Order: sequence, then C-alpha cells, then structure tokens
Amino acid sequence: MKRHLLSAADLTRDEAELVLSTAEEMRSLADRPIKKLPALRGRTIVNLFFEDSTRTRISFEAAGKRLSADVINFAAKGSSLSKGESLKDTALTLEAMGADAVVVRHGASGAPHRLASSNWIRSSVVNAGDGTHEHPTQALLDAFTMWRHLGSLDGRRVAIVGDVLHSRVARSNALLLHTLGAQVTLVSPPTLLPVGVETWPVETSYDLDAVIPKADVVMMLRVQQERMHAAFFPTAREYSRRYGLDGRRMASLQDHTIVMHPGPMVRGMEITADVADSDRSVIVEQVTNGVAVRMAVLYLLLGGSQPAETEQPAETDTEGADA
Ligand code: NCD
Repeated sequence: MKRHLLSAADLTRDEAELVLSTAEEMRSLADRPIKKLPALRGRTIVNLFFEDSTRTRISFEAAGKRLSADVINFAAKGSSLSKGESLKDTALTLEAMGADAVVVRHGASGAPHRLASSNWIRSSVVNAGDGTHEHPTQALLDAFTMWRHLGSLDGRRVAIVGDVLHSRVARSNALLLHTLGAQVTLVSPPTLLPVGVETWPVETSYDLDAVIPKADVVMMLRVQQERMHAAFFPTAREYSRRYGLDGRRMASLQDHTIVMHPGPMVRGMEITADVADSDRSVIVEQVTNGVAVRMAVLYLLLGGSQPAETEQPAETDTEGADA
C-alpha cells in the first residue's frame, strides 16, 4: 500500500483485494467477546472531522481502538478560521503531537490531498470524505459487503441509484468496483449526473425499472439537500416515484440481489421503510463491515502487509480461544 489513501483510484486490484482479505480477518474479531488486537499499540491516530458524520467517525474511532492505537478525535466544525488557514494550523498541531495517521473529512473537495501533498505533516492521510469528491473507505466497505454476499465481483452488475452529482460515495464506488471487475450502472435523473460522467468507467441510465431486474446489487443514495442550491427535480414525491426503491420495485429483483445504502437514509424518499428493513437489505451489516475495513486500512498503512493473525501474541490467541 502507498502511504496515503486519498482516492479509490489509488488502489490496484491486488491492493484492494489485500484490504478485503485483511478485513475478513478483522471481521472475525467482531464476533468475539474481546474485539481487540495489539497491532497498533503506541501509534497515534487523529480523526479530524470538519464535516458532520455519525457512522464514519465512530467507525474510524472503533477501528483505531480495536487495533490498540491511541485515538484522538478532533471535531473541527465551527472553527472561525478560514478553511486554508485552519487546515494548515491544525496540521501543524497534529504533527507536533506526533500523529501517525490523520483521518480527515472535509467539506472541500481535495482537502485531504492538500494535507497529504504538503510538507505540514509526515503522517499517513486517509480521506474520510472530501466534499462531493471521494470517500474511498466507504467504497471498500461496500465492496467488502458485496464480496461476502456474492463472492468475486468479476462481471457482477451494480446499480448505484440517486443523487450521483453530490455523492463522493458514488464516485469512489464506481472507481473501486471497476478495478475489481464489476459493471457499474449509475441511475439518476439527468440533472443529478455529474458533468464529465462519460469519463467514468460506468454506464448511465435514467430508467430505474429497466436496470434493477438485471442487477446483483442495488445501492441507493441519499438526496443531499444540504449541497443543493437549486431545484434538481420537481418535488420529493416525483423523485421517489421515479427513483425511489419501494416494495413493488423490490419484487422485480433477482433472488440473490442485495440492497445497500451508505447511510444516512431518508426513509420514504429514496428508500421505503419496508425495503430498508427487509431481508435483502444489508445496510446494518455495511456498518459492521465498515469497522473491519477501516481496521484493515489503518493496519496496512501503519502496521505492515502481513496478515494480522501472525502478529498476535499468544495471550490474544488465548483470549480468542476462550471465546
Ligand atoms: C455519506 C457521506 O457522508 O458521504 N455517508 C457516509 O459516509 N456513510 C453519504 C451521505 O451523506 O449521504
């Protein structure tokens, strides 16, 4: 692995598969009463969140702690400094504290790249979501969840549905799933497809009913009202009618097809409650898998490339065996 994880495009197929197989080992810890490995003891991870987050922040915190790292959470929201200044000053502070990894979420696309390419810090930088640009660990946890359900992603059809324009999740998934051999179709109203989407390794469609019966995975996206400064569709009801996943549409899916959502969901808008809570939904599992995948990423960036098991001292094995 390279020193930073900024974009899903940073990962070769081998590297992505190494993250997934390492995550599988980390995942087995989640079912044990003692969920901790000593792998990153003495290392410091700072979670630097300039933007709201529930799942991602908690997930990175749990991941760092389960690897025995010292985890410092810094919610920078509300800072009165301008963005450029605040990022640099904060980075210098983190460097002074000896951070080994900085996990950063920022409202501005490119902020983690700025941090990584500066000489402000020496630590690894992990992009936890930058503006409307990328969210690589979300794509990794999504791929991991698909892989656990479907096996190899080669030739698998993944429909990503909704507000692609504002979604860093969609972009990172499109890039990573392509690397892993899947065929991605973005389904969205024309107004919610980004300019330049023809350069992405995907197909596009405006017709949800035509796409989902062939899909192995249907991934729904939230409509990101907070990033919208104009009207992108007539009404919420009209949006749901054309691009929402409800029980009727779910009935057209193949038996093995799974339904995903990165969260936070707006029930009744892009997905109905009966679909979100159905047997096909792996939405809660995505959250569990997120911790394992982030453990794998932090471990590989900071710890080494050996499988985690080989680093476990006997005492941890004993704890596991007791379970
Ligand atoms: C997403 C995000 O923040 O990019 N959520 C997440 O990280 N799980 C998607 C969203 O906000 O809709």
